[in-house]
Amino acid sequence: MEKVVLITGASSGIGLETVRLFQSRNWKVAATMRKPEISKDLAKIADVELFRLDVTDRDSIASAVKGAIETFGKIDILVNNAGYSLVGPFEAASDEQVRKQFDTNVFGLMNVCREVIPHFRARKSGIIVNIASVGGRVAFPLYSLYHSTKWAVEGFSESLQFELEKFNIRVKIIEPGPIKTDFYERSQEVAKKEDLHAYEDLTERTLPNMAKFGETAPDGSIVAEAIYTAATDGTKKLRYKVNSKGLLTARRFLPDSLFNRLIRSIMID
Ligand SMILES: NC(=O)c1ccc[n+]([C@@H]2O[C@H](COP(=O)([O-])OP(=O)(O)OC[C@H]3O[C@@H](n4cnc5c(N)ncnc54)[C@H](OP(=O)(O)O)[C@@H]3O)[C@@H](O)[C@H]2O)c1
Repeated sequence: MEKVVLITGASSGIGLETVRLFQSRNWKVAATMRKPEISKDLAKIADVELFRLDVTDRDSIASAVKGAIETFGKIDILVNNAGYSLVGPFEAASDEQVRKQFDTNVFGLMNVCREVIPHFRARKSGIIVNIASVGGRVAFPLYSLYHSTKWAVEGFSESLQFELEKFNIRVKIIEPGPIKTDFYERSQEVAKKEDLHAYEDLTERTLPNMAKFGETAPDGSIVAEAIYTAATDGTKKLRYKVNSKGLLTARRFLPDSLFNRLIRSIMID
């Protein structure tokens, strides 16, 4: 029987590549996004159905999940991919910006899980693939809020796996390093305060370095491959690194003082 994957944030980047890859391997794909009316070409592809899902809108999550189950009969794999980064000094971020960052990257992801887990439990089968980041294990300057969300996704996922394993539901974490997508431009939100100049030096030195990583990075297809592996390898492996092995190995073996010096040299100096 054909398998079914539901993907959030399927309109661009990693999500879109993931739709294409699963479809090319004969899966049924529930491609969910905030504005399905914009992705008309995707809607024409066989075995791909579009559903409106904004992770900050619980009703849209419920109706997309219901719609996918009605259309395809089940969901086998959930890919929690929707997310974006809020960048800039913490002091410059408004409470509203901070809440939106958590509502999307953390509570949104949790609410999609909340909707799908009962279905997986009833079927005694399912895999949740959460797209975290190398930024869920390490931290760069001026990304304190984005990192907080991705570190939260790491902890949430690592703990969740234990309570779901007896229902034959597995949890997987994908940890991409830099990937060339809309992440560094269209999707990025900048925290700025008109009268706050104290961080300008740090901002001017750091943000171009980050942008350079995005420009020279591989595209989202390598992450889609890792997601596909996580969905199909039949193992209990929790974490999948993509373009992030070097940094995560350094994180593992270096003491904080040396690792932080490395980050400063890459990002600031
Ligand atoms: N690119 C990287 O270097 C990198 C590295 C590590 C991890 N990641 C993670 O990978 C994931 C995908 O990002 P990407 O690189 O593919 O960037 P992207 O091309 O900007 O894609 C982000 C996707 O998330 C969607 N999204 C944002 N807010 C949403 C909401 N409230 N509800 C539903 N969808 C929402 C966007 O939808 P719209 O089209 O409607 O805006 C878009 O489809 C994110 O979780 C990101 O944190 C990216």
